[in-house]
This record gives sequence, C-alpha cells and structure tokens, in this order.
Amino acid sequence: MKYVWMDGKLIPEKEAVIPILTHALHYGTSVFEGIRAYWSSDSNNLYIFRARDHYIRFRNSAKIMGIRINYSIDELIKATVELLKANEVHENVYIRPITFVSASTVNLDIRNLETSTAIIAIPFGHYLEPKGVRAKVVSWLRVHNSMFPMKAKVGGIYVNSVIALLDAKVSGFDEAILLNRDGYVAEGSGENIFIVKDGVLYTPPTYDSILEGITRDTVITIARDLGGLTVIEKRITREELYTADEVFFTGGTAAEVTPVVNIDGRVIGNGEPGPVTLKVRSYYMDVVHGKVSKYMNWLMPVY
Ligand SMILES: Cc1ncc(COP(=O)(O)O)c(C=O)c1O
Repeated sequence: MKYVWMDGKLIPEKEAVIPILTHALHYGTSVFEGIRAYWSSDSNNLYIFRARDHYIRFRNSAKIMGIRINYSIDELIKATVELLKANEVHENVYIRPITFVSASTVNLDIRNLETSTAIIAIPFGHYLEPKGVRAKVVSWLRVHNSMFPMKAKVGGIYVNSVIALLDAKVSGFDEAILLNRDGYVAEGSGENIFIVKDGVLYTPPTYDSILEGITRDTVITIARDLGGLTVIEKRITREELYTADEVFFTGGTAAEVTPVVNIDGRVIGNGEPGPVTLKVRSYYMDVVHGKVSKYMNWLMPVY
C-alpha cells in the first residue's frame, strides 16, 4: 500500500526501511499483531475487528518481553484508522502493527535500547483454503510455556512455527499441528485448534503453550448463540484429533475459521467441512462484517 505508519508519521512504504544491524533482525526482538479489517458493502464502511483487544495483547506481549512501546493503545488505534484512511482502503485488509528493538547493536541486554513502532496495511484474501485443509502433526514440539511465555506474540518465537510449517509442507500437507511438551495438542503454526465431538466443541486450554487467540475467544463467545453450542477447554490428545467428528483452525491472520478435513492421512468425519464448522464459520463471518448487532462493539468503523 502507499503509506506505512512509522513512529508517529505516515510515510511512503518504500521509505519504511531499517538498517542492517537492527537488533530485531538478528535476535527476533519484536512484538507484533495481526488484525483484520472487513469491508461491509451493506454499510459502505470498513470495520477493524477487535482493534482494542489486539492492541491490549500487543501491549502485554511487549510488557512480558521487556520491549517498550512509545505509544498508548488509544494512539495506536488512532494511527491505524489514519493509516487505513490515508491508503483509501475499501476492501478487506490485514493490519500488521509491530514494535521492534531498532537500535543497531549486538548487545543482548535490551534495557534502554531504542524501539520503533510501525503499522502496515496489507490487502489479504484467504491464506488457508476455506474448503478445508490437510494437516500434519509434526515432530517439532510447540515451545513450552516454561521455556518462553507463549502468550506473548514475539517475532523470534515464530521460528518454531516456520520450521513446523516447513515440515508439513515438504511432506505434502497444507498446515502443521504442533503438540506441546506433554504430548497434548497445542495449536497450528499460526492458528488455534478446535475439535467437535458429539455436538460439543473442545479446544486446548490457554495454559497449554498456546497463543490466546482473539478468534478463539470470539468463537467461544459466539458459539453460545448457535443453539447453545458449548465449548469445553480441555487437553486434547492426538487420537482425539483423528476420531473427532470435525476439526477446525481459528486465527485472524490465516485461518479465520478453516475446516481441517484430514490429519496425518486420517479422514476427519466424512472428509468434508462439517455442519458445526460451517455454522460457526458462517456466523463468524456475519459477526466480523457487522451483521450481528450485539457484537457491533467489537467493530471499529474507519470512515
Ligand atoms: C501461533 C498462533 N496461534 C494462534 C493464532 C490465532 O490468534 P488470533 O485469533 O488472535 O489471530 C495466531 C495468529 O496470529 C498464531 O500466530
């Protein structure tokens, strides 16, 4: 897009470059978010989905990691709206806020090092196939909470996702599922996971080395409206994946709500997106497009 917001200013994207010794490039010392904004042709407006919740997680990631963000949540929300307006966005878009240690140094002590914050808007369609993906439970484990605080969305920790996804892709699958150190299902490379069994939804608990996804929380909240669909947060084993009636991924970046139709060569359900997944997906899409009045407080209009 034409403009990027960087450290308080809108600048042409081509000028938003960083020096080669930038600390974050070498050590992954960044925190980031992935936010979606949806164009609604009904109201002729663009809505940022759960902007405040994303920026709260952003601030918390930075706090956990000891990285300073020089802007308040309100300032970041305002900057995001300004960015979308400046780029005249009239389509679905992905928003990537990032704060990174911008000092040019090889010092690992990040206290007192300079940080920069940027917000970038990226046109974005479906990253995962909405008709259903084939996933592999990879041998790489999710980094455990005792090794790194997995609630923090920190740049460097994504090498764990990258190597897991690489393993799945080179084996001919679309996506990776990572187990945690205890052998229970954690999440996808960039998504949370739900299974459906006998009409009940199950998802791994937040203490099980997962990112506390905002889409995960959205699904847990809206599921109640779907004929009293209940969601139980519990540890999930690999065999429970194989024998589930349905499995789906959730995530603001990649998945939205994406059916998983095959895991490790085992067909899930009848190999097609299941009825509960489709119901959740369709309602989720209504919610993010501003079609469900009770959730309008999650949507921030841009225009
Ligand atoms: C590792 C990981 N888990 C889960 C998610 C889903 O989080 P959210 O629904 O907030 O996008 C993401 C998305 O960025 C992720 O990277």
